[in-house]
Formats: sequence, structure tokens, C-alpha cells
Amino acid sequence: MILLGLLAAIVAASVVALSAAQALVLLGIPDPGPLTTYGVPAVRAISEIATVITIGSLFFAAFLVPPQRNGVLDVGGYRAVRMAGVAATVWAVTAALMVPLTLSETSGSPLSEAIRPENLFQALGQVETAVAWAWTTVLALITALLIRLSVRWSWTPYLLLLSLVALMPVALTGHSSSGGSHDMATNSLVLHLVAASVWAGGLFALLVHSLRGGEYTDLAARRFSFVAGLAFAVMAVTGVINAAVRMSFGDLTTTTYGRVLLAKIVALIVLGVFGWAQRRRALPALEADPTSRSALVRFTAVEAFVLAATIGLAVGLGRTPPPPPASAPTVQEVTLGYQLDVPPSFVSLFFGQWRFDLIFGTAALVLAVAYAIGLWTLRKRGDSWPVGRSIAWFSGCFVLLVATSSGVGMYSPAMFSVHMGAHMALSMLAPVLLALGGAMTLALRAFRPAGRNAPPGPREWILEFLHSPPSRFFTHPIVASVMFVGGFYALYLGGIFTTFIDSHSAHVLMNLHFLLSGYLFYWVVIGVDPSPRDLQPVTKLAMVFGSLPFHAFFGVTLMSMGTVMAESYYRGLALPWNYDLFADQKVGGSIAWSAGEIPLVLVMIALLVQWSRTDKRTARRVDRAADRDDDADLAAHNAMFAELARRDGEGR
Ligand code: HEM
Repeated sequence: MILLGLLAAIVAASVVALSAAQALVLLGIPDPGPLTTYGVPAVRAISEIATVITIGSLFFAAFLVPPQRNGVLDVGGYRAVRMAGVAATVWAVTAALMVPLTLSETSGSPLSEAIRPENLFQALGQVETAVAWAWTTVLALITALLIRLSVRWSWTPYLLLLSLVALMPVALTGHSSSGGSHDMATNSLVLHLVAASVWAGGLFALLVHSLRGGEYTDLAARRFSFVAGLAFAVMAVTGVINAAVRMSFGDLTTTTYGRVLLAKIVALIVLGVFGWAQRRRALPALEADPTSRSALVRFTAVEAFVLAATIGLAVGLGRTPPPPPASAPTVQEVTLGYQLDVPPSFVSLFFGQWRFDLIFGTAALVLAVAYAIGLWTLRKRGDSWPVGRSIAWFSGCFVLLVATSSGVGMYSPAMFSVHMGAHMALSMLAPVLLALGGAMTLALRAFRPAGRNAPPGPREWILEFLHSPPSRFFTHPIVASVMFVGGFYALYLGGIFTTFIDSHSAHVLMNLHFLLSGYLFYWVVIGVDPSPRDLQPVTKLAMVFGSLPFHAFFGVTLMSMGTVMAESYYRGLALPWNYDLFADQKVGGSIAWSAGEIPLVLVMIALLVQWSRTDKRTARRVDRAADRDDDADLAAHNAMFAELARRDGEGR
């Protein structure tokens, strides 16, 4: 880890040396001194290496090597989790160092000045990237502490999730979050960093495991090879999109930024070749003899150094000023990331204007493709699957795509009424359809059971998830209802919406909350998938009935509000067609009211149908049992009453 961190730090600082002077001129700030100019890329690169090792090692322990049969981590998993603990601590420390370093770099004042408490706390709130590093410090520290406490496999997927959350503050700020197309730049960088972390970190963990002669190296290498292939594709696509947002093809050879990028492209190709060699040489050798690790170790070691150097290049690239844009971005491009020239209409909302949302649009496509693969697997086996469920699932994916990537997704950050329409589609319509799709049931049928003494696989992971304490907590009727309904009130009436409306990352997090809290609620209420809690139909009905008035009240409150939420933001957009913000907010309120009630009524009908079906099924089962044992239950029942009558008779 130290060697890889140092290599990345040296490469990053060298790249910065190429353009440091140019950057200061372009930014128009005084020189903060070499400690900051080279300290920032060096510490950032070490932090990036610590980040990927934390995430990759947790990924390794969770999905590449099996635990012991009693659920406690096996040697390989335990060592990987310990390595993640050390890396997370380094991550927290370097992230903490990045706070004053970022303040020094942004203000142009020497580090000694920036680090003084009165300057530090005064400036912290004003510099978004410094705040992001402060959050990263806290989240990385929590990850490191929780890692120390965990020895059971079942916690590793959740620790992995937490470490990915800790990656987000920095991924959602920096170069990508400002200027034209910042929505594309930020979303592509989020996917880029997640893929880089799992790929580079997983590779480092695999290298250490195979160097130690760890068990299941062949299984880990085979599983990792699949993941690395996916990560390679994601890195290439998101890297190109991120680059295309900032520069033209011609800049590749004529600007420092372009040349560093070219070096990254070459590195990716080299890594692709090594990946290919792994599949042609190392994996077959391991398959033939699980102890023949030499080819794997040789190739992985080279890949590890190339990846560490590329991360250094990337950090240097992140500190290199991109080529100046052909024209200054407009107010809308700076705020939204794009320009809206025509007023919203049925055509412009659903047909005329599409802008693919790299996060939610991609999620919709991946969810649809994964489900189709599940269907195909069942069909290949000759198993049937209710067509209604497939229609529900693909419709849910389609609603997710349209609500985030069509004109609805484009106008949503610009107009409250369209935003509310998108909100309702993401928290009401898409989740109802997805919950009726029964994806987990399909996965449990499509994936084969691992077999008695075999390492657990996807099917066992899903079952473990379904029975895990966090799933039980979040599917509790009260928790699911509060997350579903409470979110509305906290967001709009609690002022969160107004405070964060101009932040792209807030829009990403809002959409994520709408989708997950909606899916969770409908999974519990009408989901066809097995749920950690076996709730009575009456409890489910109570959840729906309970949330109905809250929805109605929320819609009415919006319609009767006396002030316009986030007025300065909407006015500031200077949309070419001027419109009445008040009236638009009222439209938003009526959409919330109507679009909230309709799915809930549909759900109630679906629940009553499910309830009557359950009853019929129970009745049929009881009848079949009665046929089998000559209605022993009824006989026992009658005998009990006869006995009671006899005792009553004797008492008198
Ligand atoms: C193995 C290959 C790669 C790795 C490990 C990698 C890693 C990274 C990392 C860690 C960052 C964030 C840097 C920062 O914000 O400080 C980044 C940013 C970026 N990467 Fe990559 N990357 C790889 C390949 C590529 C490729 C092939 C391209 C282009 C085709 C690319 C384009 C970009 C761009 C444009 C940025 C944003 C830089 C900025 O903020 O200005 N990357 N990459």
C-alpha cells in the first residue's frame, strides 16, 4: 500500500508540475507555495489509493472469497477486512489533511495561514470541496471503526456500501460539478470512481491474497475477472464522456490536459491487454491447478503498479485546468448543465428533448437487462414466469428512464411542477411497478443454489440480505411508512429542497430517496418478493390507509402555500419563457395530491385482491388437508365443544 501510494503521489505531483503556473494564472489566485501546490496532489493521490484499497478489500471479503460455514470471516476474508481497516484509517487521515490543503489552494494563502483555527473554521463553510473532504474524513473514520468491530461476513456488504457512500462527497464536487454539462460530468465521474475503486482495490486485494497463498484464489480470480471486465468497460465509457464534456478531440495532443488524458487512455489499453493475458494464461493455469499462482501474481503485480500510476495521472489531471470552453456557459448551463429554449409541452417533455441520465438512466437499462437475463435463464430451463410480472417490471424500468432521461428529467430542475411530476413518477409509479415485478423471486429461481459445501454465491447472498438485521429494520411497517411519507414533509416543508435546489448532487440524492423509499414501501405492502417480515393483510392495509391522508394533506399544503419555494433560484434561471412561479407551484401541489392518491388507491385494490387470493389459497389448503385426514380438525373441534358441553352439563 505504501509503495503504491508513493508511486501515485509522485506521478500526481509530476503532472501538476507540468501546469501549476498556468493553473494559478487561469484561476487568478496568488501562489500558496510549493507545500500546497505539490502537497494537494500528493496527499490526494495517497488518499485515492487508500480509498480504492478500502473499497476493493471490502468487496474482496464480501463477494470474492467465502466465509466459514458459521458465517464468521475465513482467513482470506478476515485479512482483507483488516487491510480495509488500515486503508480506511489512512483515508480518514489524508482526507482530514485535504481540508486545510484545499483551503490554502483555493485562497492562495500559505498552508501555515490556512491551518490556523480561526481561518480554518471561517473558510470551511465557504469552500464546497473543503466541506466534501470534511465529510469524507467523518465517513472514512466511521468505516474504519466499524471495520474493527466486524468479524462476521454478513456485515461486509454493508461496510462496502458505507465505504462507497464515503466516496461520494468528493466525487460529487471538484472540477466536474461546475460549468456546462456539469450533470454529465458529475454523473460520469461518480460511475468512473466507483468502477476504479472496485477494479483497482479488488486487484490489490487479490494480489495480496495470492501472494500469501490464500485459499480459494482460483475462485476469487475467476469472479474478479468478470468484475474487472465490467469495470474496464465502465471506465472507458465514463472516461470518454467526462473528457468529451471538457474538451474537443483536437485538444488531446495540443493541451497539457489532453496529453495527460492520452496517457490515461494508453494505461487503460495496457491494462486491457494484461486483463486479456490473465484470462488466457493465469485463469486456465489456476483452473488446472489451484496452487499454480505464478502467472496470476506476475500479471496482477504489473497491473497494480500501472493502476497506481494511472490514479496518480488521474489526480494530476483533476488539478490541471481543462482547455477553456469555446464560449462562456450561459446562466442555465452553469445552473442546470444545459440550455432549455422551448417551454415545456407534451412533445418537449416526452419526445423532443432527451438527455440521458448516466446514473438513473443506466440503472433503468441495467435493471431491465438483468431481469431479461433472468427470464431467459428460466426459459432455457423450461420454467415459466407470470407475464404480468415481466410487464410490470419492464414498465417500471421504462418509467424510471422517462422520469430521469426524457424532457421530464431536463425540465425537472427548472420548474417545480415538472419536478413534482418526476417526484411522483419516481416515488409512486415506478416503485409500484417494480415491486410487482418480483425481481428477487426471479433471481432466487434463476440462480442455482451453491450446493452443500460449496462457496456461497448470488442466491445465498440474496437470502442473507433478506434475513439481515438492516432489511428487517427497514421493512418494519412504521420505518417504511415514515421514510415514504416523512420524506415529502422533511424535503419540501422542512426547507431541504429550498436549501439544496441549486446542487446537482442534491438532485441525485433526492431521486435516489424517492425511488428507494417508494420501492421499500411498496415491497412491504404489495411486493410479490419474499420479505423479512410476514405482515398480515390488515397491517398492510393500515400502512396504505395511514399514508393516504398525509399525501392528501401534503398536496393541499403545497397548493395553499403563500410563498414560492426557492423563488430566487427559479427567477435566477432566466428561462426564455416567463411563467407564473406561484401558479406553477400550485400545479406541483395538485400533481402531488392527485398523483399521490391514485397509486395508493390502486395499491389498496391490489392488496384486497391479494388478500382474497390468500384467503382462497388457505381455504383450498384446509380443504385438501380435510380431504386427506377426513377432516380431523373439524372432528377435533366438534369433540372439544362436546367435551365443553359435557362439563357444562355436569356443573349444573
Ligand atoms: C485505469 C484507468 C483509469 C483510472 C484508474 C482512472 C481513475 C480516475 C480517477 C481516480 C479520477 C478522479 C481524479 C480526481 O478527481 O482527482 C479520474 C478522473 C477522470 N478520468 Fe479517469 N481513470 C482511468 C481511465 C480513464 C480514461 C481511459 C479516461 C478517458 C478516456 C479517463 C478520463 C477521466 C477524466 C476526464 C477525469 C476527470 C478529471 C477532472 O476532474 O478534470 N479516465 N479518473
